[in-house]
Amino acid sequence: MSNAPVINGRRRFLTAATAVVGGVGVAGVAVPFIASWNPSARAKAAGAPVEVNVSKLEPGQLIRAKWRGKPVYVVRRTDKTINDLAKHDSQLKDPKSDEPQQPSYATNEYRSISPEFLVALGVCTHLGCAPTYHKGDFEEKVEGVTDGFYCPCHGSKFDMAGRVFQSVPAPLNLVIPEHSFPTEGTLLIGVGQGEA
Ligand code: FES
Repeated sequence: MSNAPVINGRRRFLTAATAVVGGVGVAGVAVPFIASWNPSARAKAAGAPVEVNVSKLEPGQLIRAKWRGKPVYVVRRTDKTINDLAKHDSQLKDPKSDEPQQPSYATNEYRSISPEFLVALGVCTHLGCAPTYHKGDFEEKVEGVTDGFYCPCHGSKFDMAGRVFQSVPAPLNLVIPEHSFPTEGTLLIGVGQGEA
């Protein structure tokens, strides 16, 4: 009986040790679950909005941004380009943007928030090549249209609103990503108008 306290003490130690091991076991199960539930910092960054300074963009100039691993073309359209958009509807597959290739606030004749700025994915809707921008020499591709985009892979053609011309393999207009202008001269790609 003299060693009873020792036994009791050992029991208490074993009980405590079991509880700790049990706790570790639970944590060991919980950590992978939480890790798969939380997006990693890299994944978050990959989907993060991208800010572009468009204040210095000249009329007719194109700059490329990258959002979610895809190229985004940003063009400051000239007055002539803006006026010409209404002149070749009969040559287009989807002139009124009936297909959901753009957010609702860009479902208009310019496919954009502001007539001045085109913001479109630089990804051909045929098989994903990058169309090239033709400024002033697009008439070689489409008669009577001076500016546009030409996909060198299989010859698809798009106008300055990213609308696809008829008789080419690309089935749809270029995708217009969610975007907004939180301040004048600042374009935010990935956050829609009214969501910022
Ligand atoms: Fe552009 Fe085929 S990928 S025309």
